Amino acid sequence: MVAERQHLVFSRDQQYCKTRFKEKDVSLAVLTVVFCSGILSILIATGFWVFINPFPITKAGYTPLSSPDASSIYNSFKNKFPPIKTEENTCSKRIIGYYSGTSDSEITINQVSKLTHAIFAFVQLTFDGTLVFRNKNRFMALRNIAKTENSTVKFMFSIGGPGHSQNFSPVVRNQEKKRRFIKSIFSFLEEHKLDGVDIFWKWPHLADKHAYSQFLLELNEILKTRKDYILSILVPPQGIGFASGFKMNEIVENVDFINIFAMDYYGPWASGWGNPTGPISPIYGGSERREQWNVDNTAAIYSCETMRSSKFNIVIPFFARLWNNVGKPIDFPGKEVYRNVTLIDGKAVGEVYMPRRSALQKGYNLSSYNYDDLSETAFIYNSTTKEYLTFEVKRSIAAKLDYVQNMNLGGVWIWQMDMDDESDKLLDTVVFDDGFCSTKKSKEYDCSMF
Ligand SMILES: *[C@@H]1O[C@H](CO)[C@@H](O)[C@H](O)[C@H]1NC(C)=O
Ligand SMILES: *[C@@H]1O[C@H](CO)[C@@H](O)[C@H](O)[C@H]1NC(C)=O
Ligand SMILES: *[C@@H]1O[C@H](CO)[C@@H](O)[C@H](O)[C@H]1NC(C)=O
Ligand SMILES: *[C@@H]1O[C@H](CO)[C@@H](O)[C@H](O)[C@H]1NC(C)=O
Repeated sequence: MVAERQHLVFSRDQQYCKTRFKEKDVSLAVLTVVFCSGILSILIATGFWVFINPFPITKAGYTPLSSPDASSIYNSFKNKFPPIKTEENTCSKRIIGYYSGTSDSEITINQVSKLTHAIFAFVQLTFDGTLVFRNKNRFMALRNIAKTENSTVKFMFSIGGPGHSQNFSPVVRNQEKKRRFIKSIFSFLEEHKLDGVDIFWKWPHLADKHAYSQFLLELNEILKTRKDYILSILVPPQGIGFASGFKMNEIVENVDFINIFAMDYYGPWASGWGNPTGPISPIYGGSERREQWNVDNTAAIYSCETMRSSKFNIVIPFFARLWNNVGKPIDFPGKEVYRNVTLIDGKAVGEVYMPRRSALQKGYNLSSYNYDDLSETAFIYNSTTKEYLTFEVKRSIAAKLDYVQNMNLGGVWIWQMDMDDESDKLLDTVVFDDGFCSTKKSKEYDCSMF
């Protein structure tokens, strides 16, 4: 139910663009290309051409996979080049930043240079497996900075997102749509010279489990054939009942990394779950009935399930979260951070995603806060205004980075870059203290518990 709430607050454009490609023109072009290639390959009599151009990508950038020629090429290509398995590298801690396509915050070289991966969010998936690309100006602004000379950041795009995931299920469960989707992704990567793709599907159901895993396997095979394109996905927090659509043991072999959505355990939701207050993304602990709702529990379950902790990244939320009508701690005086919220008509009142610069504009001083040692989180409570604000600070971020290093996780992902304050103060604190080649691993998860 937490996830359902979120799409309400994400901005949503009024209209999809027109589909970019006209099928008829493309089919004609494809027929021509396929015909000519037939003659060519006979003339050259090697068949080598198939390797050079396995997908006859037209100017329009998209070829339907339904034609028998195209799918036989696809199959023969698939079999000839098994996916590349990249070795796990201990010098590859990640700092991943998502940029919202709809924000108008400034994107700077200074920001992007602090990331290992910059991800444009989002490109949308249509019901028939093609992609809809909006906010192109913002995309180009990020692209230009990510691709400046000597830049080492990997530039990726993300598909789906909160409130825009309804087409994943019908597409991955239909062979033809699935293939069209895979081709659309491949074409998009080639056309815009990107480094990889991120699938942000919140959340597949049990009925999608097999199809989603199969889709990722097939997508990865294609992505790793021509170039080593990166494939990443998002997975939900554990213990809340969203994780049933993921065959983790299979998936972990077919993606480069996995961003754990270990947040939104507490929020001013429009339901009883809006009470009590609590940290957005606590490392440890929880309030009554939510003892397992934290980063540690979620990361432990995924790591134990797959034994591949270094594939997983935990989240650093860059926004602040506000509750109104907040009273005493629910477990006075021990847990100041979990406080009783008076619901109005059964709903909590507040602001779920408040960019830090808005918080500052509204007069909240984010340098003056209380710190909860157990959960490693910061909050402000004002008993006069009955307001409660929670957000990350240098100390809580240091605790998260330390956790990543100690548990040998892969890194962190920032949701989202556009929500920092004007001078990127929070981003400046996201630095691994022993660099990207961390060897600090000091603890093991106790997997006997799961
Ligand atoms: C890129 O690196 C080269 C070699 O170190 C250097 O000469 C050049 O000035 C750099 N370009 C930019 C834009 O920093
Ligand atoms: C929470 O606040 C409401 C309204 O002030 C009050 O009726 C209720 O007893 C409080 N609950 C707890 C657990 O303190
Ligand atoms: C914000 O809080 C910090 C730390 O308590 C303090 O030093 C600073 O003066 C405060 N800023 C404002 C504008 O009140
Ligand atoms: C609480 O908010 C009131 C009204 O904005 C303000 O005057 C007061 O200084 C705040 N108290 C604290 C402890 O920040």
